[in-house]
Amino acid sequence: MTVSSAPGKVYLFGEHAVVYGEPAVPCAVERRATVTVAARDDDHVRVRAEDLSLNGFTVEYRGSTGDRPDVDVPAPLVEAAMGYIDAAVDQAREAADAPDAGFDITVESDIPLGAGLGSSAAVVVAGIDAATRELGVELAPREIAERAYRAEHEVQDGQASRADTFCSAMGGAVRVEGDDCRTIDAPPLPFVIGFDGGAGDTGALVSGVRALREEYDFAADTVSTVGDIVRRGEELLAESDPDADEPPEELLSELGRFMNFNHGLLEALGVSSRSLDSMVWAAREAGAYGAKLTGAGGGGCIVSLDPTPETQTALRFTPGCEDAFRAELATEGVRVEVPPEADAEAEAETDPEREGDGGNSA
Ligand code: PMV
Repeated sequence: MTVSSAPGKVYLFGEHAVVYGEPAVPCAVERRATVTVAARDDDHVRVRAEDLSLNGFTVEYRGSTGDRPDVDVPAPLVEAAMGYIDAAVDQAREAADAPDAGFDITVESDIPLGAGLGSSAAVVVAGIDAATRELGVELAPREIAERAYRAEHEVQDGQASRADTFCSAMGGAVRVEGDDCRTIDAPPLPFVIGFDGGAGDTGALVSGVRALREEYDFAADTVSTVGDIVRRGEELLAESDPDADEPPEELLSELGRFMNFNHGLLEALGVSSRSLDSMVWAAREAGAYGAKLTGAGGGGCIVSLDPTPETQTALRFTPGCEDAFRAELATEGVRVEVPPEADAEAEAETDPEREGDGGNSA
């Protein structure tokens, strides 16, 4: 058995504009998806998912999700979740050159689904890591990022950017511009997240911005202005001390101002919503340095910067806000929680009959 986890992310700056070649800066946050994988003797894949807003379900299938049996949850949700897991399994089989490998997989996640926090990317990244390790292959985080991107690209009909998967695999702050993905230094930013309990339709929101951009020069200018903000934000991060225990107030104040600006432009592009705007204003009025929506918008999450408890408290009392939580920058990306050898050793210790059989079921 192998257990791996990977973090979710927020966009400090640059969602939507990244689709048109502008840079974006997503940051990994300490909310993780954890995937447990145990190799099977046959080529079946059995999946148990909890905390995915699916009320817990178990399915067993051979080959692909097309054969999935009936389960008592809405089909689109099952298909979405199973599609990602299926694609992650395919990537792991390919990476380990084991096309017939079967797995028992359990997925747990404390990242709200479809809310702009990169839940699917975290599941895919952790799933590829755990499944390949279980087959005795250890991939570098960059390769996991690449394979996870391919998996998301397939499931999302080519609509995926590299931002979520790269950020989840590498951890920390990253910069994404087209296919060029890099990690960048950032101090421990005090993120506070507000969640309205909903989710936006990423495809429809991206199409809406595309249409506006094609119709109006000022909308195209708005998108490139987001790119200008990202570049200025990056300069600020590059000048800051990544080893500082706390980021200096001037840095937070300027980053916050840029976040506010970025939110205003996203609002102008039509991707905010009443609940997102209410949470953004509640955070600002509570003294946050800045606040903006994160991800595709339309509903889901906002991210704000506040080292004090004030913003979280204010968000909790904001109509339309379902959950508010602090999420520190996750400096570690994908990581193994229980390596296969440790597990085999533990099993050998507790199960004397297994001694001498080589121990590892993979
Ligand atoms: O909602 P999320 O976290 O999947 O982010 C979508 C970000 C967009 O820039 C709107 C689309 C993309 O693929 O980059």
